[in-house]
Amino acid sequence: MTELLSVQNLSVGFGRGKAIKPIVDGVTFTLDAGETLAIVGESGSGKSVTALSINRLIDYSGGRITTGRIDLSLADGKKLDLATLDTGRMERIRGSEIGMIFQEPMTSLNPVLT
Ligand SMILES: Nc1ncnc2c1ncn2[C@@H]1O[C@H](COP(=O)(O)OP(=O)(O)O)[C@@H](O)[C@H]1O
Ligand SMILES: [Mg+2]
Repeated sequence: MTELLSVQNLSVGFGRGKAIKPIVDGVTFTLDAGETLAIVGESGSGKSVTALSINRLIDYSGGRITTGRIDLSLADGKKLDLATLDTGRMERIRGSEIGMIFQEPMTSLNPVLT
C-alpha cells in the first residue's frame, strides 16, 4: 500500500536550550493509507506527546521537536516534512491534510457540540 506517514527518529522535549527535558526519544514508524496503527504504552510514556508532535500542536504547549522527520504524503502525492514546517504552512495542512480526534470521544465525536 502507499505510505501515508513516515515518522523517523522523532525526539521531542519541553523547555528551551540546555534546559530542554527530553520526553520522546527516537520514535520511528510508518503508516500506510487505509492502515490503522495503535501506539500502546503506560501512562506518561509519551503517546500523546508523539501524536501532538505529528500535527505540531505540541508547539503550543512548550514542546520542541529536537530530532527527526515527519513525512506526510499529501493529497496531490507530494511529501512534506512536517517536523520543520513553518507555522503558516502548518496551519494550512492542519484540517485539510491531517486532523486529530482528541481524547474523550463523547465530546470529540459529538456533531452537536462545536
Ligand atoms: N506540556 C507539557 N510540559 C511538560 N511536560 C509535559 C507536557 N505534556 C506532557 N508532558 C510530560 O511528557 C510525558 C509524556 O506525557 P504523555 O505523552 O501525555 O503520556 P501518555 O503516554 O500518557 O499520553 C509525561 O511525563 C508528561 O508529564
Ligand atoms: Mg495520553
